Amino acid sequence: MITFSSTQNFINKIIFLILTIFEKFLLRFNLVLIRSTPCLERKRLIDISYRAWDFNRYSSLEFCAQEIIEKKVPGSVAELGVYEGTFASKINELFPQKTLFLFDTFQGFEKKDLEYEDKMGFQSGGQKIDFSNTSIEIVNSKMKFPQNCVFKKGYFPGTASGIHDKFCFVSIDTDLYLPIYEGLSFFYPRLEHGGYIFIHDYNNKYFTGAKEAVRKYCSENKLNYFPLSDVGGTVVITK
Ligand SMILES: C[S@@+](CC[C@H](N)C(=O)[O-])C[C@H]1O[C@@H](n2cnc3c(N)ncnc32)[C@H](O)[C@@H]1O
Repeated sequence: MITFSSTQNFINKIIFLILTIFEKFLLRFNLVLIRSTPCLERKRLIDISYRAWDFNRYSSLEFCAQEIIEKKVPGSVAELGVYEGTFASKINELFPQKTLFLFDTFQGFEKKDLEYEDKMGFQSGGQKIDFSNTSIEIVNSKMKFPQNCVFKKGYFPGTASGIHDKFCFVSIDTDLYLPIYEGLSFFYPRLEHGGYIFIHDYNNKYFTGAKEAVRKYCSENKLNYFPLSDVGGTVVITK
């Protein structure tokens, strides 16, 4: 047990006051101090400095991975919507023993998905980014365990045919209504007990089809989900 003398207590209070003032100063400029999780009895795998602006998403991935590994949940892992592989590379690193399926056109959004967004009146990022400036080679070069990766290039859900794996962790990050709905239809029935599906952009005002797709699939299948307070507004389904 740590005991502090009254002088030490006084110094601690002063340091705390200085930090609180400093934090308020940073907040004026929209900057935040991130706190770690000191009660954990293990070393963090996602360093607090790693992509600090989206720390909640990456940190939550680490905690889910830890649960899956400790409970020995079987199954592969996957990301639908990979782009340059930033999030996928962390999935790969955190699941060294698992096959990682990577689904993407690697050529950006499909015209028919964008047309559907227009038809339904969804916001789809103003179509400013089309995510076409990537490739399998770029993504593969970021992987710590490239031997675990199975690339599925092309339009989803067509690229999922012939896959008989079950899954313990899936990230769906395709931004648009149709591939998110199709992603849930494919992955949820194949999710192992104890597994997780992250769906990015649910609470994202720039991609409003994401919330519609999740709500439709979840109400049809009587599922619930937990919202993360990350930048993209992810929700998490578990089984
Ligand atoms: C926001 S980016 C993914 C970002 C990535 N998950 C990350 O966090 O670094 C969305 C990706 O979804 C892909 N995508 C969208 N619709 C798709 C579909 N129907 N089939 C395959 N890929 C799709 C796009 O090509 C794009 O690369």
